[in-house]
Amino acid sequence: MSSKSVTRSQQQHKVFIASSDDSKICVVMVGLPARGKSLIAGKAMRYLAWVGIPARVFNVGSYRRHNTPQPQATFFDPHNAEGERMRRAAAEAAMSDMLAWFQAGKGVVAILDATNSTKQRRAWIHEQCAAADIETLFVESICDDEDLIMNNILEVKTTSPDYKGQDPELAALDFRKRIVNYEKAYETIDNGEKSYTYVKLINVGSTVIINQIKDYLSSRLVYYIQNLHIKPRSIWLSRHGESEYNLTGRIGGDSNISERGEAYARALPELLRKSGIPENTKIVIWTSTLKRTIQSARHLKAETGFEKLEWKALDELDSGVCDGLTYEEIAEQYPEDFAARDEDKYNYRYRGGESYRDVVIRLEPIIMELERSENVIIVTHQAVLRCIYAYFMNIPQEKSPWMEVPLHTLIKLTPRAYGTEEQRFKAGISAVSTWRGKGTSAKHQDYPENGQEHK
Ligand code: F6P
Repeated sequence: MSSKSVTRSQQQHKVFIASSDDSKICVVMVGLPARGKSLIAGKAMRYLAWVGIPARVFNVGSYRRHNTPQPQATFFDPHNAEGERMRRAAAEAAMSDMLAWFQAGKGVVAILDATNSTKQRRAWIHEQCAAADIETLFVESICDDEDLIMNNILEVKTTSPDYKGQDPELAALDFRKRIVNYEKAYETIDNGEKSYTYVKLINVGSTVIINQIKDYLSSRLVYYIQNLHIKPRSIWLSRHGESEYNLTGRIGGDSNISERGEAYARALPELLRKSGIPENTKIVIWTSTLKRTIQSARHLKAETGFEKLEWKALDELDSGVCDGLTYEEIAEQYPEDFAARDEDKYNYRYRGGESYRDVVIRLEPIIMELERSENVIIVTHQAVLRCIYAYFMNIPQEKSPWMEVPLHTLIKLTPRAYGTEEQRFKAGISAVSTWRGKGTSAKHQDYPENGQEHK
């Protein structure tokens, strides 16, 4: 091949982001502290990058930290003139960097992460953006659910650089006072701002008010944002247990799991328990429709009684005419394709099959559903797992198809206000490595030295 199929996937890439070609959007977060704004901003950025739309978060707090790294609550009192001046300077610095970023053609969506809690501040942002031909989309997070706010405060006092190295109890107290100071000046978006495009999320998406959405990209973003919630939860990812095809080095297919794969399936319920599950937590099990994932989740389902769903969208990347071949056979029978895949693994589409980019597109509804859900364990395949992992961990497209995701390993991802925390749990059951380095046609064989990963 494959100049032909590369061209095809490039075209498809264009179609996929075409809506973003001429519009520039500034997403303006609005809301009191501890309302999950940074979480929403960070997630929206990751989602956009994952679907191929260049985006960046401009966090006003980090600009403010240049001058005032660890301010006390009084700094945020609206009657504190010096505090007010410095906060405005931070907003201006963020705005000026954001405008320069757009001007340099570096991206399509910028997210201005701050409280933007007064009408005056929002009018200023709207005006600055309009003058630079940038659409604004205000996203206000309103929350009066004390449990959710408490969780956020807990999160902030343990993870925010504002309180680094401080006593957590004093930090929580100070943070509460900071919120009270913000409340003094806070103005929710109301009828006076009807001409703006905005979304109001009330108690993490339980009520959503949408006003004046004008273009496709904004509506897609709004759809994503309205699916989000900030309740604490984890997502577990596992490949299926070693399969018969894995043992013979064949890709694709629908083979059974091997004996060692079955041992992993038996070990999975205990591995999940060991990874730490809060009491009375319900976890939903998701598998693909292929035998090896269903077999791998069988004992998990039987022992826990958790609900289980099978998704076609979680099936392994379709390797088309190469399905059932080993990498060596592909290199022999389709040398040009083999080289083209190494050249651009993310965009390369197998003849009659899929590329990683195709998999990301078919996984979009899975990501939406995952965002709406709470605790989920996904038992799926190497390529699909790489794509899902890349979404949560913000891995760039050129890297994600090369990531090592070993068999018989459970990955636990826990979203936090400032990123996703990752833990890996190995079952200690040997398996072949299915990882292949660029330019090689490595045979599948057991991991060297007790399951150590390749670098
Ligand atoms: O080898 C296992 C497997 O899941 C194959 O079925 C699939 O084609 C392959 O991994 C995907 O990995 P890569 O994109 O590195 O070839």
